[in-house]
Amino acid sequence: MKLTDALRGEHGAFYALFDEIEDIAATEDAMAQWLGATTVLEAMVTSHEALEERLLFAALKPHLGDRSGPLATLHTEHEEMERFLAHMLQESDVDRAILWISEALGAARSHFKKEEQILFPLAERILGDEVLIRMGREWAEVRRVTVD
Ligand SMILES: [Fe+2]
Ligand SMILES: [Fe+2]
Repeated sequence: MKLTDALRGEHGAFYALFDEIEDIAATEDAMAQWLGATTVLEAMVTSHEALEERLLFAALKPHLGDRSGPLATLHTEHEEMERFLAHMLQESDVDRAILWISEALGAARSHFKKEEQILFPLAERILGDEVLIRMGREWAEVRRVTVD
């Protein structure tokens, strides 16, 4: 399995979690449940971004550079999402915490779409199947997923 397909799969799992968190946030008196879900979200986003940068961004850097262009933009967006999520977890006012999560989920959805529509197809053209399948094996090892 190609790394880009594995990352698309992770995005799919995130979209389900984003919807769930929005449902919980809309419920009154669900603060404890909501805090638990957003703590999980923060850990998952951090892990997804770190893996993406360590494998995919690192392989693309010699081709695209990382001071400007798509990798620089996407890296800045990773930092921005982490900032929104950190604010959300530190916020004691429920209404403001909900605003932070709404910022974070909006930013995450648009970032993921950008990767799916631009970065992953670009990576597939530049790196080719062999490299992406090798990195897919590294992904599987980190995630403890059996692929073959
Ligand atoms: Fe990303
Ligand atoms: Fe991603």
